[in-house]
Amino acid sequence: MTSQVRGVQLARLLGQWHALPGRRRSPDYAALAGAVRGLLADGRLPLGVRLPAERELAEALRISRTTVTAAYRELRESGHLASRRGAGSWTMLPGTHRVASTGLWTPLDDRDMIDLGVAALSAPPQLVPAARAAAEDLPRYLGGAGYHPTGIIELREAVARLYTERGLPTSPEQIMVTNGTQHALDLVLRLTLSPGGGVLVESPTYPNALAALSARRARITTHGLATDDVGWDADLLLGSIRQTRPKLAYLIPEFQNPTGHLMEIGLRERLVGTAHTAGTDLVIDESFVDLPLDGTPLPPPVATFDRHSRVISIGGMSKPYWGGLRIGWVRASAPQVQRLAAARVGVDMASPVLDQLVAVHLLAEASSIVTARRTQLAAQRDALVGALAERLPDWRVAVPRGGVTLWAELDGPISSALARASEEVGVRLAPGPRFGLDGTLERFLRLPFTLPAADLVEAVGRLAAVRYDLDRTGRPQWREPTVIA
Ligand SMILES: Cc1ncc(COP(=O)(O)O)c(C=O)c1O
Repeated sequence: MTSQVRGVQLARLLGQWHALPGRRRSPDYAALAGAVRGLLADGRLPLGVRLPAERELAEALRISRTTVTAAYRELRESGHLASRRGAGSWTMLPGTHRVASTGLWTPLDDRDMIDLGVAALSAPPQLVPAARAAAEDLPRYLGGAGYHPTGIIELREAVARLYTERGLPTSPEQIMVTNGTQHALDLVLRLTLSPGGGVLVESPTYPNALAALSARRARITTHGLATDDVGWDADLLLGSIRQTRPKLAYLIPEFQNPTGHLMEIGLRERLVGTAHTAGTDLVIDESFVDLPLDGTPLPPPVATFDRHSRVISIGGMSKPYWGGLRIGWVRASAPQVQRLAAARVGVDMASPVLDQLVAVHLLAEASSIVTARRTQLAAQRDALVGALAERLPDWRVAVPRGGVTLWAELDGPISSALARASEEVGVRLAPGPRFGLDGTLERFLRLPFTLPAADLVEAVGRLAAVRYDLDRTGRPQWREPTVIA
């Protein structure tokens, strides 16, 4: 069945379409068509959805119907819209772009592209030796069926030890191994959230968490993070939990994606107390906890303050080690872990034994691997910050004390326009609105520092040129869409 986007919804997504930079000499209908293409390009408007009737969109945007008719005509001509008389118009893509049946973009490999849409490092050198050692270990498991819904015991022990070392005593029965942190989140949502359940998230937040929440039909409310050093406004955050009493809050307290903020200890403690009083479960995403930079001390895990099994922590290997490993985990109470394992048999049964063994070997070398990662990330961050200060001095950048991303405040609401234009010069970006719900955040851009310093400096040079061109020239051409991690 085709889903439909209503006029008011599309108007909200389109936001300030008529005022985007780079359109000064283009007529309204062309700007509108360009803005719709932009939404398709960065995935905010899915493929195969029916657009509102011309009259409805004209009313929602308070423009003439002729303008909408001309915009739809242009979209048909550029291959972004298919129409059938009496049945409506659907979004589509021109040419041979591949789209998975879920509507998720599958990016075509482009080796010349500097991809700043993905915030993840390449694999560490220890990965191949770890994989070899894991293969040597495998015979110990081959006598059994190989299904371990909560994970192999060696890995659960190793992960439990990580929490214990952080001051949070944890037994292996409290750990369930998953296929990445995203999978952990999805399983937790399956267990804890019914359709229509309220969920509080930060704004901005990790886009794929929003996708997981939408898939479970969550009713999402947001807590806006400040752009200063602190990030969370304690009174506002706790006040909104008290007032709206969401079923869940999904938060990223360590080097939040995308802002890089670190939640201070006092708020961690108050958060758990308030959540318990409000009947809210906390899903705490610790993806970046291993990556403090500059010797920044870490506050205790949020779960340290939990006395009532309100906190479910999720984390994984993707950021400090390698995303391609697909190893993550949940830390919860032992009964919750059992319930998660039961839910999992309807999804994927268990994680691959070999990959878990690779993870065990990598974790055995955690201190040397993670130390090297931190050194590498700090140098790359400094190169990125330096290049931005030199080439784009009007952008405001709070230097993160950890994690892999910074959140730049731009010199105008240009994030989507910049992302579109930068594709032209071989830089792929994740524009600000991808990290929010309602097409806002156009003044912001997430920039990861996971690529080598030379690539980051080169990318900033190209962005600076594109930024300058946005003011001078017409609209950029529509190009390939982005995938964000
Ligand atoms: C906050 C956050 N959670 C989850 C994930 C997904 O991690 P994984 O690759 O372990 O599924 C990411 C990846 O970018 C992330 O930034």
